[in-house]
Amino acid sequence: MTDRYAVIGNPIEQSKSPFIHTAFAQVTGQDIDYTKVLGPLGGFAQAVDAFRAAGGKGMNVTAPFKLDAFDYATDLAPGAQMAGAVNAMKFEGERVYAENFDGVGLVRDVVHNLRCPLRGRRVLVLGAGGATRGALLPLLAEQPAQLVIVNRTLAKAEELALLARQQRGSIPVSGLGYTGLTGQPFDVVFNATSASLSAESLPLPASVFAPGAVAYDLTYGKGLTPFLKLAQQAGVTRLHDGVGMLAEQAAEAFAWWRGVRPDTSDVIRQLTVPLL
Ligand code: ATR
Repeated sequence: MTDRYAVIGNPIEQSKSPFIHTAFAQVTGQDIDYTKVLGPLGGFAQAVDAFRAAGGKGMNVTAPFKLDAFDYATDLAPGAQMAGAVNAMKFEGERVYAENFDGVGLVRDVVHNLRCPLRGRRVLVLGAGGATRGALLPLLAEQPAQLVIVNRTLAKAEELALLARQQRGSIPVSGLGYTGLTGQPFDVVFNATSASLSAESLPLPASVFAPGAVAYDLTYGKGLTPFLKLAQQAGVTRLHDGVGMLAEQAAEAFAWWRGVRPDTSDVIRQLTVPLL
């Protein structure tokens, strides 16, 4: 019998998850049906209840429901706990197992696909919202030499830095405001703010990019965002958006549901939007 999965969000039309999971099912020979569910605002639990009652096995969760899913879950994995948000659920009887694969997807893309090891590197993360929170544990697990979190609202950067140090005291982590970036260069710079979604630029000095640095915008499909443009103007040639992260978080969920990890290279190739 065909097993049913779906992504729930509002809006949902833009979601690439059905395309990605259907492609994964084809290459792995898994018999699944993956659809989109438009969750009513304020009606997340009812929509998920209905999907489960109809035999649904699992769901991806996208905006604005990642916190609702956190509350809905019965069993939160450490990644979801740390992120404070859920992007994948697995249904088994009364149990709702919940995960957040965004951070592992990001790290897998950077380390594996882009061949950019993070171990021993100086890493800068811009933003201290949900995206950064979700990426913290997987980034720390790679043992960077140093992790700096910069945020417009300094207190949130400091709070996440403290949380990171509590998790892994052996790695120096600090939280700064943008004005605190005083000439120190970084090997890898992630933009985990939501500024790219509204094409807003960040007050980032060119000196943050070390020679040979990688600039990675976690947004997908926005072309050359103001952040990537700034990096390019600073001489960075290794520019990336979040297409690989999108595919890798999906592959993690697929493996968790189906027990087989699909290769992501075809999907990444098909979804890549040129950085122009
Ligand atoms: P997400 O889940 O995408 O991380 P979020 O939790 O709302 O969304 O966080 C958005 C992040 O982008 C925050 O770190 C926010 O900075 P503040 O905490 O100071 O609000 C950051 N951000 C959004 N727009 C920005 C801008 N124009 N300049 C700098 N930072 C911005």
